[in-house]
Amino acid sequence: MAKLTGADVAQHADKNSCWVIVHGKAYDVTEFLPEHPGGQKIILKYAGKDATEEFDPIHPPDTLDKYLDKKFHMGEVDMRTVAIEEKQVDPDEADRLERVKNMPPLELCYNLSDFEYVAKQVMKRTAWGYYSSGADDEITMRENRTAFHKIWFKPKVLVDVENIDMSCTMLGSKSSIPFYITATALGKLGHPDGECCLTKAAARHGLIQMIPTLASCSFDEIVDAADGKQTQWFQLYVNKDRQITERIVKHAESRGMKGLFITVDAPQLGRREKDMRSKYAEDDTAVQKEGDTTTIDRSQGAARAISSFIDPSLSWKDIPFFQNITKMPIILKGVQRVDDVIKAVEHGVTGVVLSNHGGRQLDTAPTGIELLADVMAELRARNWQDKIEVYIDGGVRRASDVVKAVCLGAKGVGIGRPFLYAMSAYGVEGVCRAIQLLKDEFEMNMRLIGARNVSELTPDMVDAKGLAYHTIPSGPDMLHHTVYSPLTNPAFKAKANL
Ligand SMILES: Cc1cc2nc3c(=O)[nH]c(=O)nc-3n(C[C@H](O)[C@H](O)[C@H](O)COP(=O)(O)O)c2cc1C
Repeated sequence: MAKLTGADVAQHADKNSCWVIVHGKAYDVTEFLPEHPGGQKIILKYAGKDATEEFDPIHPPDTLDKYLDKKFHMGEVDMRTVAIEEKQVDPDEADRLERVKNMPPLELCYNLSDFEYVAKQVMKRTAWGYYSSGADDEITMRENRTAFHKIWFKPKVLVDVENIDMSCTMLGSKSSIPFYITATALGKLGHPDGECCLTKAAARHGLIQMIPTLASCSFDEIVDAADGKQTQWFQLYVNKDRQITERIVKHAESRGMKGLFITVDAPQLGRREKDMRSKYAEDDTAVQKEGDTTTIDRSQGAARAISSFIDPSLSWKDIPFFQNITKMPIILKGVQRVDDVIKAVEHGVTGVVLSNHGGRQLDTAPTGIELLADVMAELRARNWQDKIEVYIDGGVRRASDVVKAVCLGAKGVGIGRPFLYAMSAYGVEGVCRAIQLLKDEFEMNMRLIGARNVSELTPDMVDAKGLAYHTIPSGPDMLHHTVYSPLTNPAFKAKANL
């Protein structure tokens, strides 16, 4: 069959007939426009044109095959006939590329804040906006970090710490150290290989990786990138259509996932203003088509654009549904109060992650580490501490944070943004170095606190009384302070004479 030409596709350039090209193939998305989770305006921007570059980071490669009826697959396009778009020139782009060329060598990154610092300078603005943002005033996001500073060690001396064993078991699987790479969406915003970078680094270091529902790579690509021995978990956003959910869960189980993490803190995605603002800045330059009355608000950022399928009616009543469709251990990710942990035990789930989604959901929700202390006290009072595995995430940037969490009773700790930053700046090697730095720190901390293995990290080794105080008098963590981007206000038009 003869290939379509650029001119053929260009005839379908409005909402009455809207075709787009993705990876050399044309698709008729006219009927799909109102359903597009990211709104129709963004598709209309590419109507009649090649949308591959915008499409790629946000959608796994199998999206169109899976979700767009075959009758709308219009055929291959002879890409030589497609007009090359004159791109809007981003005034910052040349400077950014210059910074990429002059990045510090990887060996000069000594801690996770260093990766964040480099990533901030070299990532595209929209990607940085999506990864770094927190909800509203970002109070919870910042407290996630500072909460760890309120816990002090009570080190033991004269313990023979020549040999240190950092290994542990999480949900029955071995890990070289008690932290894991948690689920973070849209990996390709940061690196063209997306989440597969994290998979490869996890394999090299014997770490567990949690695969997100909203990965940029397809789920199967991420599983195929694994070395066949490593452990992967699956993070689930529950779809309003339970048949779709069931299909996804069963597929995850059939591909060997060792845990199902159901995210329960996101019935609606939080407002992340840095993300919204960076997206808006980009779209502001788009030429408004004549007669285009589309009112979809594109200023919502990448997060809202991808999440409209998530079911806000999800409730405790749904837990048996999941227990019926899978044998994978079920863990509720995003639990934020003690009595919900008690309910989780009563519902027979295997674990909880005490998490506020990296401060991206409800602002002034409690930090995982603070909640952990209260949760373990309640579980121990009931002698229930072995009935459920408790994990935390949020703000972990030093191995000492992991040590503190394990002392307080966590089975393990999730780390999100730092690995995204390491990946965005330096790819797989960057993630490997970030993990190695944490391992080195962890081993040193174990020696200095006087613990030879993870089971010797016990509550009496920390003083966590300070957790009750939410305002730290001692000022910011300076390393974090240099990379933290303050929230900004809307920009005035040029020469506003402020
Ligand atoms: C860019 C980004 C994307 C995320 N995407 C998801 C997601 O798709 N599903 C989910 O359950 N949690 C998601 N999270 C939350 C993380 O799993 C985790 O709770 C959080 O990142 C931990 O905080 P940290 O980034 O300070 O380590 C995301 C976090 C970030 C930063």
